[in-house]
Amino acid sequence: SGRSEYNLRSPICCIMGHVDTGKTKLLDCIRGTNVQQGEAGGITQQIGATYFPAENIRQRTKELKADANLKVPGLLVIDTPGHESFTNLRSRGSGLCDIAILVVDIMHGLERQTIESLNLLKMRNTNFVIALNKVDRLYGWKACHNASIVKAMKEQSRDVQFEFRTRLTQVVTEFKEQGINTELYYKNKNMGKDTFSIVPTSAISGEGIPDLLLLLVQWTAKTMAARLAYSNEVQCTVLEVKVVEGHGTTIDVILVNGELHEGDQIVVCGMQGPIVTSIRALLTPDPMKELRVKGSYEHHKKIKAAQGIKINAQGLEHAIAGTSLYVMGPDDDAEDIKEAVMEDMRSVMGRVNKCGEGVYVQASTLGSLEALLDFLKTPEVSIPVSGIGIGNVHKQDVMKASVMLEKKKEYATILAFDVRVAQDARELADEVGVEIFAADIIYHLFDQFKVYIDNLKE
Ligand code: GTP
Ligand code: MG
Ligand code: NA
Repeated sequence: SGRSEYNLRSPICCIMGHVDTGKTKLLDCIRGTNVQQGEAGGITQQIGATYFPAENIRQRTKELKADANLKVPGLLVIDTPGHESFTNLRSRGSGLCDIAILVVDIMHGLERQTIESLNLLKMRNTNFVIALNKVDRLYGWKACHNASIVKAMKEQSRDVQFEFRTRLTQVVTEFKEQGINTELYYKNKNMGKDTFSIVPTSAISGEGIPDLLLLLVQWTAKTMAARLAYSNEVQCTVLEVKVVEGHGTTIDVILVNGELHEGDQIVVCGMQGPIVTSIRALLTPDPMKELRVKGSYEHHKKIKAAQGIKINAQGLEHAIAGTSLYVMGPDDDAEDIKEAVMEDMRSVMGRVNKCGEGVYVQASTLGSLEALLDFLKTPEVSIPVSGIGIGNVHKQDVMKASVMLEKKKEYATILAFDVRVAQDARELADEVGVEIFAADIIYHLFDQFKVYIDNLKE
């Protein structure tokens, strides 16, 4: 109906693809930020979110002379990791989104996690646009900063155009092998029917970025009105639990639908059971800034979906990322909601070794914990786990790990992923003989543990 057209929420777009294809860099290019260079090892290990107001998208797409009256308030983009260990985060990201950008490196074509991402999108029937990125790496490419791709392509030499067409044809063939028809977006007459659009881009010089943005916004507004119709029912997922200077423990959430207010009573999944608390502050990063990167925040009395939000409330210390957030309404049964909230935790607890022999694993979020547990389970790694924790390593975690000293000494070990180890925890570990391995790159933990085991055997 005409009415719903004017009450659309912002679409959520997930950016997916193989490691190092340029997902974060593409967002940096749109935001004018430098998030990618601040990442450990240059790899993304968390889900992030950035809100692009319609006004910024209008600015960025001006030269395409498109319909200036975008019908959605903005676009919420979710960045995901491409590294193989983070299947669960890709799955979570793709589960939240209305549309996706699948990034392919033009020099590499389809890779392992491109295909994995593609399968996630197929499974959920999610529409997507392919960003064929790094066109500036074509030999002899002439930079046309932030130009539309059609314009930029006209500026290129015949050799560059030839190499482009050759590589494009190769990628189209590789998609066909996956059962997917693709076509350059400006030639695609069947978008949304059975042919997916390819937008050539460069995250370094910005060619194709206007095309990509416009395509996403117009396409979602045109074809997803029903799906994007704003609804009052809150749908919200916790992405991260973080201590922020001046704000205490906060949670980063994606509000998919509905509205949150300061003072709302909320229920979230916690390590020790459901957490019932009320929203003390609703914060967003400035528009075009990444939620997962520390910066300044705007305060709000209320926020409408879709948005990435930092929530400040009491008692969030043991909240678990990757779980749903519920708002307690006047007619809701508190016990039902508490029950629903703890559902997400059960699947992870099920992966701990029941016979009780194994290392202790500590990670920053439920998502990274799941990733680490999956990684430790792979045949090449195969390290049993007897206990898990989320958040920084404290004395109590060392106590729990020390139980293994009696059972199997080499497992009296804490693998700490992307978390800090408190000084007193470190001291206690030294005293009782618990090993702590800490790393911010998942496979470095395995390397450290393996050296340790090999040394023990000698
Ligand atoms: P993960 O999040 O770890 O999966 O990687 P990513 O897909 O986010 O890629 P990222 O943004 O980290 O970029 C990987 C590398 O490719 C970096 O060194 C970037 O500078 C480089 N890169 C990204 N996009 C482009 C591009 O369009 N052109 C060129 N020449 N280099 C690029
Ligand atoms: Mg990245
Ligand atoms: Na990277």
